[in-house]
Amino acid sequence: MQTLQLDLGGVVRRSEPPAPAPAQPGTQPGAARDSAGPAVRAAAVTKRFGKNVILDGLDLEIRAGEFVALLGRSGCGKTTLLRTLAGLDGITSGTLQVPRALAAAFQEPRLMPWKRAWRNVTLGLNIPQARERARAALAEVGLAHRENAWPATLSGGEAQRVALARALVREPQLLLLDEPFAALDALTRIRMHRLILQLWARHRPAVLLVTHDVDEAILLADRVLVLEKGRFVADIAVREPRPRRGERHEFQQLRARLLQLLGVDADIDAGIDTDPAADLAADAGTSAAAGPELHYAHN
Ligand SMILES: Nc1ncnc2c1ncn2[C@@H]1O[C@H](COP(=O)(O)OP(=O)(O)OP(=O)(O)O)[C@@H](O)[C@H]1O
Ligand SMILES: [Mg+2]
Repeated sequence: MQTLQLDLGGVVRRSEPPAPAPAQPGTQPGAARDSAGPAVRAAAVTKRFGKNVILDGLDLEIRAGEFVALLGRSGCGKTTLLRTLAGLDGITSGTLQVPRALAAAFQEPRLMPWKRAWRNVTLGLNIPQARERARAALAEVGLAHRENAWPATLSGGEAQRVALARALVREPQLLLLDEPFAALDALTRIRMHRLILQLWARHRPAVLLVTHDVDEAILLADRVLVLEKGRFVADIAVREPRPRRGERHEFQQLRARLLQLLGVDADIDAGIDTDPAADLAADAGTSAAAGPELHYAHN
């Protein structure tokens, strides 16, 4: 039985809903801004699919306006965590508090092909001056000139920027991003990194970004979490000033540390390893480096 209760402008979820509604990403209704207190507060959150425990008693706090990156091997539960935070899936036990004003963007932009760009931005929203607000959001992502475009005529990067505009127009206090840049080419990804930092600086939502890219996590986030087997095995504050530079010693150190936690040997990462089968086998196993409950001081 699901219990849903309002709490300081947010939503508290306590357990599994009978059947998750097929919600569109980012269609949760907005609420008054609650800048005091954390944007996310999860306590002992467990999520099971049948007998499989995917999230295993997770505790998580994300401060208002904080940018957190979430790393972890394929299948460790990152998307599951995001979906529970977005309210797309229920939790099995524990409590989860999130702001009502949240939005999500995924690896694929999930645009409705029969709706023009601006209509995709306001999809599912019943707001006054929808077109003007869509136009403003599209302008923020540099797409004012494509407001009438059909999704099929957009490049991958443009389509992903429309998806970001769709998130922005909801004025989220919590922005959930699930590998939003993974399908983009390297140059477009660099531009998207700059764009997301600009938008974050301007609107200051709390952000939870799922990524497989260690450099992306260090470049963007205030804090990097590593999830393994349904538990956080690291919670590392990134104290480097922005804009960050990959060549700095501190960046390299943190990079090596995270790769170790993810079970990736630095030599493999440098392309020296020539046995991809062994690499895949290692990926399926347990990281010897990832000990239990490593916790780093956070500002
Ligand atoms: N609806 C579902 N029913 C049953 N099992 C599921 C369901 N959704 C996810 N799982 C399982 O939960 C585990 C975690 O999946 P999840 O998608 O969260 O992983 P992930 O960390 O996001 O992986 P990736 O990095 O590959 O995207 C996987 O074993 C997956 O098969
Ligand atoms: Mg995933």
